Amino acid sequence: MVNAAIEFKDVRKSFTKKDGSVQHILDGVDFIVPPGKTTVIAGGSGQGKSVTLKLVLRLMDADSGRIFIHGEDVTRVRGKKLETLRTQFGVLFQGSALFDSLTVFENIALPLRERTSKSEEEIFEQVHASLAQFELTGHDAKYPAQLSGGMRKRVGLARAMQLQPSIMLFDEPTTGLDPVMTQEIYHLFASTQAEFGFTSVIVSHDIPKIFNLADQVIILDKGRMDVFESPEEIQWSEKEHIQDFVKTTMGEIYQSQLVEK
Ligand SMILES: Nc1ncnc2c1ncn2[C@@H]1O[C@H](COP(=O)(O)OP(=O)(O)O)[C@@H](O)[C@H]1O
Ligand SMILES: [Mg+2]
Repeated sequence: MVNAAIEFKDVRKSFTKKDGSVQHILDGVDFIVPPGKTTVIAGGSGQGKSVTLKLVLRLMDADSGRIFIHGEDVTRVRGKKLETLRTQFGVLFQGSALFDSLTVFENIALPLRERTSKSEEEIFEQVHASLAQFELTGHDAKYPAQLSGGMRKRVGLARAMQLQPSIMLFDEPTTGLDPVMTQEIYHLFASTQAEFGFTSVIVSHDIPKIFNLADQVIILDKGRMDVFESPEEIQWSEKEHIQDFVKTTMGEIYQSQLVEK
């Protein structure tokens, strides 16, 4: 038995463009996301990173191949089973996707109201515990528009954590943040993960600046995936497209100092 939180086996996904040409986004990819670790899926814009996450969540179907979550083939799961499958995931998409008309408290409480039968009192307690944990105490009555970018991400993370997911999916979670806030958010991911032990998949157009955040890096390029056991390994790759990727997106990382988790 494979010990994997997520496994893709020979997964293919293509789209037919308006002009009739076929765009192969995933061209038979295989990878394993080990449980309790952080996997970074990196690649240029339009390479299929978000599509990969949508396939995991079954918001989209693969053309062929199989997808396993905790060993279970979910490729053809439908209906109630699919809903149950999705509750295993916490998702933080680009822009945090907060509801502008809801307060911080109500945004965080939303999954508890929708998915559990907890009482108002229990919800109050759980949300306030989260506010404290994510350094948001005192901001519960504010609206998203009144928050800084970093605070919005923390609210999004707090909300995504409410149902204690076993797998967290982050899609370009630091877009729009300055380098200092980016580091802060990645530190927060690392400390939250250390505390709760979830599996983490971070999709990013570059490799997180906190270099040792990633236990595994997957580079997605032109429908293919290359899996690296450590970020350091990437620089030794002899493949031309990997070298190009290193040159264009990783240069800075090697100049910046390593930051401890
Ligand atoms: N629902 C869709 N229909 C057609 N094409 C799509 C669809 N979703 C994504 N694509 C195309 O697939 C490619 C990869 O998209 P995406 O996964 O969003 O890229 P990224 O790596 O930037 O997240 C893009 O060229 C996009 O236009
Ligand atoms: Mg994307």
